[in-house]
Amino acid sequence: MAMIAHKCADHTVTVVDINQARIDAWNSDELPIYEPGLDDVVKAARGKNLFFSTDVDTAIHEAEIVFISVNTPTKTYGVGAGRAADLRFIEKCARKIAQVSEGDKIVVEKSTLPVRTAESIKRILEANSKGRDFQILSNPEFLAEGTAIADLQNPDRVLIGGDQTPAGLVAIQKLVDVYAAWVPSEKILTTNVWSSELSKLTANAFLAQRISSINAISALCEETGANVDEVANAIGTDSRIGPKFLKSSVGFGGSCFQKDILNLVYLCDHFGLPDVANYWYGVIEMNDFQKHRFARRVVSTLFNTVSDKKIAVLGFAFKKDTNDTRESAAIYICRDLIDEQANIAIYDPKVTAKQIRQDLKVADENPHVAICEDAYEATKDAHAVLILTEWDEFKALDFKKIYDEMQLPVFLFDGRNLLDLEALREIGFEATGIGQG
Ligand code: UDX
Repeated sequence: MAMIAHKCADHTVTVVDINQARIDAWNSDELPIYEPGLDDVVKAARGKNLFFSTDVDTAIHEAEIVFISVNTPTKTYGVGAGRAADLRFIEKCARKIAQVSEGDKIVVEKSTLPVRTAESIKRILEANSKGRDFQILSNPEFLAEGTAIADLQNPDRVLIGGDQTPAGLVAIQKLVDVYAAWVPSEKILTTNVWSSELSKLTANAFLAQRISSINAISALCEETGANVDEVANAIGTDSRIGPKFLKSSVGFGGSCFQKDILNLVYLCDHFGLPDVANYWYGVIEMNDFQKHRFARRVVSTLFNTVSDKKIAVLGFAFKKDTNDTRESAAIYICRDLIDEQANIAIYDPKVTAKQIRQDLKVADENPHVAICEDAYEATKDAHAVLILTEWDEFKALDFKKIYDEMQLPVFLFDGRNLLDLEALREIGFEATGIGQG
């Protein structure tokens, strides 16, 4: 929304939330999320044509287009628990829009939703329409965290789905016109609503599938002496495969991939396609395998026990340049090591100690988990160091100093294939990466 405000000076964008603290943060100097470049975009438009408010009713009342951008987490209760998307926040928004609107509205699904959710929104709105016309559009977001501003500024495509009726086409065109302020028209794709909804789930499933595929190969590389980065490079030069999203890792995390695949799996089951559901579920199973495999490797290398050993963990965010830890592989790896009675010392440049403790479900006074101010504090006297997020600053660490202050033999596990392992071995580290036999 900040980008729309920034690019469309003649539109007024009001972002509303019922959470006062969050809105206050958006109105302050300290934005509630860390995203490179976002501060500048928000600060340039805020107070001019970008506003943050808790006055939900007024904002809906005044708007011509309403974007629904609420959470759709995986359901934790009832039917579909663990798989289906929890749509209660979406439904609350639809009811609120129906209640408050006086004129016609275009309602845009920006949250990622199961296919055919637009229909539910439409039914709620139409049941309460009292003569008003509601057009529902699907406009999924493809930005990735850490590169959000560049992705928004120069997207591969913008996707807009809507009813293929005269009124639906008018609504689609209105949203096309918003994006056309900065996105070339050939990159704005329009479809029917369900193709748009399904495209979002499919894009994320394909991306996650590539990571699980290369991670599966990484396990084989470790057994055979091949090098997964070399394999990725070799296959990535095939223009049909392409080089992106082939970086083997400790496993994918983030708020989208797992949730969206689970959602897809649930939909397939719901529509009587268990074979398709199982096919996609395999992507998640392979990711779980990769996370636990990494932790098992650490334990087995450290002479089959990490009990009472200090293990330094560098990086806790699910990827670099974000403070987001949702579904981060680091959470699972740390939990596995805590179960093995290790003492873990964690350092991440952006994630707060509070967040880490919350993710690991440990109290402040838990003696097995220390949160450190820097990488040197985390690694001092440790038996092993684990790289779990590919932060650039880890490449610039003084590894000689780190080596000198650790316990011998000094083990290093690079879960992101970020570092020059040969150089580390020359210092004396017993260094291993992912997928390097
Ligand atoms: C993803 C999609 O990329 C984006 O289009 C969608 O809108 C939201 O979900 P995001 O979760 O922000 O974006 O990050 P992404 O860069 O896709 O990375 C997801 C996870 O995969 C991270 O944990 C990352 O470290 C991992 N990853 C990514 C790999 O392990 N290897 C790769 O080659 C790429």
